[in-house]
Parts: sequence; structure tokens; C-alpha cells
Amino acid sequence: MIELKRVSFAYPRSCEDAIKNASLVFGPGVTAVIGPNGSGKTTLLKLAALLYRPRAGEVLIDGVSFWSMPDAAKVAFRRKVVYVHEKPIMLRGSVADNVAYGLRVRNLSSEDVAARVDEALEALGIKSLAREKAQALSIGQQQRVALARALAVRPKSLLLDEPTANLDKSGREEFMELIVGLAERGTCIAVATHDRLLALKLMDRAVIVENGTATLIENPEEASLV
Ligand SMILES: Nc1ncnc2c1ncn2[C@@H]1O[C@H](COP(=O)(O)OP(=O)(O)O)[C@@H](O)[C@H]1O
Ligand SMILES: [Mg+2]
Repeated sequence: MIELKRVSFAYPRSCEDAIKNASLVFGPGVTAVIGPNGSGKTTLLKLAALLYRPRAGEVLIDGVSFWSMPDAAKVAFRRKVVYVHEKPIMLRGSVADNVAYGLRVRNLSSEDVAARVDEALEALGIKSLAREKAQALSIGQQQRVALARALAVRPKSLLLDEPTANLDKSGREEFMELIVGLAERGTCIAVATHDRLLALKLMDRAVIVENGTATLIENPEEASLV
């Protein structure tokens, strides 16, 4: 679980905070992060993903304040959280190589790596693509590979930045069902989107972001009125 407490963040050479005093929890299930372009969704997710250090406030991972930890302790906490970029980034090599990437640095046996890759491909319904060149796939397929790569490391929290931006309507619906399935298995998932209708369909709660101000709404019915 990721908690932000009074978090503010400003980009270098910017006089205004891109995130202003945000306090919220990304808990179990699916949290939709909704807001127009430029409102601060990506910045918020990157703060939650421990990629950006807040100017003020705290980011707690499973109740522990991350940025005040000794460096040696940070590694284990970073591994609990994975951020998936809006544009899928494919490395050279096969789909299986791409999914194994995050596991290679983790001292797992090659059998364990193979088993986890297999499991992640299965979960995303792309087992048949294992030997394909990742960079030759469609964007929709690449998005699945990126998600499989994230899942393979078994993060407690998964932060997805506009994962459906490049998909058509049926692709979006399929992807969303997939995400709901993953959340049911216990991963805390946050999904940034400017597609409100879609978000309303799948979310357990919403974070509305407007001009750097984030508001957590626990009741989706209420969120639909915002
Ligand atoms: N690397 C950056 N440097 C300076 N300003 C940035 C940078 N990235 C984003 N911003 C600004 O921060 C604000 C929030 O951006 P962002 O988090 O990307 O919004 P969203 O993901 O909702 O579109 C915007 O005003 C944007 O222009
Ligand atoms: Mg964004």
C-alpha cells in the first residue's frame, strides 16, 4: 500500500508546484486517477512510484516513510512498486526476454525466471507471442508485454500511466478487464486515465486531479458526479 502525506512537488525551474499538498492512499483494488491533460496525473504516479522525490511531505510504503530510510533499506521497498510508462518501452529481443528483464537483476535461478515469465505471459494472454520480436508487435500487444514485465516481478503496487491511450474501444475494454482480474489477485493498482467512463466502470475509488490538486473519492458513485 502506498500513502502520500501532504506531498508537494515542483519540477526544476518551475515556480509552481505540479502537485500541491496531496494526501491520499493507493489501497487494494483499482484506483482510477482521473484528470485532464497536464493536471498532474503522471507526476502523482511517479511520486507514488518513488521515481520523484517530493519537495515536501512523505511517501509511505507499507507504513514506512520511504525518503527518510537509509539507502540500503530503500532497494527492498522500491521492489514493491512498479510504474508502467504510458508508451510501452520494448527492448531488443523476444517477448520472453523483455518480460524476464526485471528478474535478471534479482538473483533468481533460471528455472524461477522461466516460471515467472511463463506465468506473466499466461496472465496477459500472450503466451503464444513468447518467441516473437517485441519491437515488431502492435502497440496493443506491446502494452501487454510491458504489463507482463511489470507483473513478473510481483509488485505489491502497480501504477499504470494511461495504459489504454493507444488502444481502440474493444482493446480498451479487454485491457480493463485484465486489470480488474489482476487487482482481484491482490495487487494494488492505480490507473491514470482521462477516459472517465472507462474509469468509472472498473474502479474501486478515484483520485481526481485538477491543476496539481489531488482529491481521493472513496465512493465511485460520488465520483461519477464530479
Ligand atoms: N519534466 C517536466 N518539466 C517541467 N514541467 C513538467 C514536466 N513534466 C510535466 N510538467 C508539468 O507539470 C504539470 C503536470 O504534468 P503531468 O503530471 O504530466 O500531467 P498529466 O499526466 O495529468 O497530463 C503540467 O503543467 C506539465 O506541464
Ligand atoms: Mg500523463
